Amino acid sequence: MIFPEWTTGNIILYGFLAVVAISVGPLEYFGQAMMAYSKFRPSSGISTRTGMVILYATPLIALVTSALPYLSNPTTIQLIVFASVFIHFAKRVLESLFLHKYSGPISVFTTLMIASFYSLAAFLVGYLNREPFQSMDAWFYIGIVLFVIGIIGNFNQHKALANLRKDSMEYKIPRGGLFEYVVCPHYLFEIITWLGIFLLSRHLGALLVLAFIIAYLSARSIRTLAWYREKFKDFPTGRKGIFPFVL
Ligand SMILES: NC(=O)c1ccc[n+]([C@@H]2O[C@H](COP(=O)([O-])OP(=O)(O)OC[C@H]3O[C@@H](n4cnc5c(N)ncnc54)[C@H](OP(=O)(O)O)[C@@H]3O)[C@@H](O)[C@H]2O)c1
Repeated sequence: MIFPEWTTGNIILYGFLAVVAISVGPLEYFGQAMMAYSKFRPSSGISTRTGMVILYATPLIALVTSALPYLSNPTTIQLIVFASVFIHFAKRVLESLFLHKYSGPISVFTTLMIASFYSLAAFLVGYLNREPFQSMDAWFYIGIVLFVIGIIGNFNQHKALANLRKDSMEYKIPRGGLFEYVVCPHYLFEIITWLGIFLLSRHLGALLVLAFIIAYLSARSIRTLAWYREKFKDFPTGRKGIFPFVL
């Protein structure tokens, strides 16, 4: 693992990231950091498609900006780390534009909050990649495999959710595959994607981004499970939020 030089600026930055990563799970769980979109959306706001494209496109700009010094002549490791983050956010822009079928608005505040966090995360990983991990060891290759599994799995679950909207825009109980075990398998694959990115980057900053994502998505999946149980009286018992049989 690559640790930063412990300057005052870095102590403040990493301390802030650690506090945010530790607190976001409980805050989301208790409804204090609820991002207002999808099942927990406000009654008014901007089009979710527009909001999602904005919040996934801004990190692409942040990533490219942070990578400018090495982008014209990257090492293989720099190229793979950069490409992994770029592919993740570009995929989300394309899915937001062409795959998801949103049934209502997203709040402007939520759009700005998520855009800010994603941009910080993308900038940080791209910036730290100026001094990349020095060898393509076994963990690096495991990172590539996890990243690919995460991207493909996440897309497949999004496709399954979009297929629920073929006939109507109502919410339905997702069925089949991993949905038989958890209500948010797409979140599980997002975590696998970022675990892959961490193993490619190997910087402490990337680990803190991963920790934040695990905490946030776990808490949101618990809220989502509670939402399903309340909305559908015949909701199958035994389904979990994000980790099959566990949480
Ligand atoms: N890194 C992070 O911290 C983070 C956080 C959140 C999301 N994400 C990423 O964004 C992706 C999408 O997350 P999300 O929170 O937007 O997922 P979501 O709330 O499950 O929504 C995904 C899409 O599926 C639709 N949908 C969800 N449940 C449905 C149901 N029961 N019946 C019919 N349609 C349904 C939603 O429609 P509606 O819009 O109408 O609800 C939306 O179009 C995740 O998989 C992940 O890759 C990342």
